[in-house]
Amino acid sequence: MIVHLPVMVREVVEMLDIRSGGTYVDATVGLGGHAEEIVKLLGSEGKLIGMDRDGEALKTAGQRLDNHRVVLRKSTFSGLKGAMISLGVREADGILFDFGVSMMQFKDPERGFSFSAWEPLDMRMDRSQKMSAEEIVNDYSQSELERILREYGEERLARKIARAIIAARTHTRIRTCSELAQIVRAVSWGGGRHHPATRTFQALRIAVNDEIREIDEGLRSSVGLLRRGGRLCAISYHSLEDRLVKHVIRDSAREGVLRALTKKPLIPSREEIRNNPSARSAKMRCAERA
Ligand SMILES: C[S@@+](CC[C@H](N)C(=O)[O-])C[C@H]1O[C@@H](n2cnc3c(N)ncnc32)[C@H](O)[C@@H]1O
Repeated sequence: MIVHLPVMVREVVEMLDIRSGGTYVDATVGLGGHAEEIVKLLGSEGKLIGMDRDGEALKTAGQRLDNHRVVLRKSTFSGLKGAMISLGVREADGILFDFGVSMMQFKDPERGFSFSAWEPLDMRMDRSQKMSAEEIVNDYSQSELERILREYGEERLARKIARAIIAARTHTRIRTCSELAQIVRAVSWGGGRHHPATRTFQALRIAVNDEIREIDEGLRSSVGLLRRGGRLCAISYHSLEDRLVKHVIRDSAREGVLRALTKKPLIPSREEIRNNPSARSAKMRCAERA
């Protein structure tokens, strides 16, 4: 069984300041790790709304959180407000975002998030969506590929990698993650701490799932869904995500709508990173509705 350890769960519960009887939204319920801890503190009258764009994750969360206080809904971040309205919930006491992919998505050999295997180039968080990484890699122009790699992967070798992809696909379609990883490795210097294709994979995942727009829209709409004194917590795993969170909190603080609770992002303890190395890049920012 695949285990996804919830990241900074103690800090999440503390910063959301979970109150018995409150209404909380976990906008990235995933496998329900954070949700499970939140539910423990809700009392008999509290409510947790768990959302995710991945229907398979919701199924697993549903089995784990079999509880009359939990409502699960398939929704993207950009659909958050509409989903809340459809549930008749106008305000929340706390909203959590835990970006990125879950271990269930990352380790599933059919989903194509990992460059280490002969997985199909997929990377869709919602498998009912049409566009996958294979279309981007095989059908986008060199300049589009270069832009995606530069903007979403912050990849210095964007041009070189885009060119190598175009050259490789003239013979045959690039269908698997390992084929793509090999193409990137062949034009990279190697040597660093991470696999040379890490940034390329990050960039493609962001493009396939329209993550930048999704995160920005989701965060901005969540501010308007918080009750006075309600809290927003967001956990990021790379600099683009963290920048979006920082900007939304800064903009809302300027408008007097939010009060930042974390000047600098909180990070996991050394002990947590030792137990769960995938938490190592996590950064959490929190704010309170003014
Ligand atoms: C890191 S996992 C969350 C894990 C969860 N906190 C737990 O403890 O099990 C991130 C989840 O967010 C979901 N997700 C990412 N982007 C999304 C979006 N734009 N809309 C809705 N869900 C999204 C993914 O499908 C994934 O299940």
